[in-house]
Amino acid sequence: MKRVFSGVQPTGNIHLGNYLGALKQFVELQNDHECIYCIVDLHAITVPQDPKVLREHILDVASLYLAVGINPSKSIVFVQSDVPGHVELSWVLTCCSYTGELYRMTQFKAKSHNKESAPAGLLTYPVLMAADILLYDTDIVPVGNDQKQHIELTRDLAIRVNNTRKKTFVVPEGRYMKEGARIMALDDPRQKMSKSAENVHSRISLLDEPSKIKKSIMKATTDSDGIIRFDPENKPGISNLLNIYSVLSGQSIDDITADYDGKGYGDFKKDLVEITVDALAPIKARYEEIRYSDELRTILKDGAERAGAIAEKTMKRVKENFGLGL
Ligand code: TYM
Repeated sequence: MKRVFSGVQPTGNIHLGNYLGALKQFVELQNDHECIYCIVDLHAITVPQDPKVLREHILDVASLYLAVGINPSKSIVFVQSDVPGHVELSWVLTCCSYTGELYRMTQFKAKSHNKESAPAGLLTYPVLMAADILLYDTDIVPVGNDQKQHIELTRDLAIRVNNTRKKTFVVPEGRYMKEGARIMALDDPRQKMSKSAENVHSRISLLDEPSKIKKSIMKATTDSDGIIRFDPENKPGISNLLNIYSVLSGQSIDDITADYDGKGYGDFKKDLVEITVDALAPIKARYEEIRYSDELRTILKDGAERAGAIAEKTMKRVKENFGLGL
């Protein structure tokens, strides 16, 4: 069985983009793959975090993992900082990376706002991500499009080490959804939907109330020609809504546009509200059951033990191949 690894940052506001680009794939893959899903708290501290809030967000994301359908008896679910191998391997890989390739990462450029001096963690963030993936001999990494460059760096690092030392790492592949890989902000469809945007109506969070979902979708930016057609270049707003509709309903975009031929944006948006509310209601209900249960901590503790056992084996091989320790 091929091994799958992926992670989500515990930074609150997990949204429809995270769900359609990543979490939905996590669930689909667990039937015929060996899946490991991580809550990447070490990545979250690349920007300042309130410790109490961070802890809560870790448990929020863990609960959401289970609420969307990740089954802990099939998949490993754990918190990154509970397995020390992530930091250990990250240092080894830092020593195999070049500052030039890290400065070129678009996410670094965006987050450091092109300032001359930025937190070093923002620069080395993708190396830690590479460590997460390579630590588990991962074959497949299900992620949204925004992580493509980081996956490429991970592959480069794995190949670089394999070519200069004994073969040490499995070279992973990214896995991207056809329609959900890049969900755009509802208020500005040229930006991706993000957890940190100030306008709450730019995103639909998985735990939003139906009234908030309705408001965000009905306010979503479209265009003035009123025709429901998929054309991301010229009609990014309605195309984004069509993407969301398609992934949530399971209908193809062609079938949807045929159904709405001659109808207006208002009708389409009203139906999309219903589809979204119906899709998120069971997730929200399961989340409420799990979030404050004792079971949650037991699942994460067990997950960390299982992940830790795999990580230890890899680190033994890495240390051997790099001549570290005795
Ligand atoms: P994060 O926490 O920002 O996002 C989690 C996942 O959601 C995807 N995503 C989106 N997909 C579609 N449309 C969007 N608007 C959208 N926004 C986010 C992301 O691509 C991601 O798959 N660096 C990662 C976390 C990470 C990781 C890893 C992932 C750390 N280590 C190892 C995979 C493997 C991140 O910040 O994701």
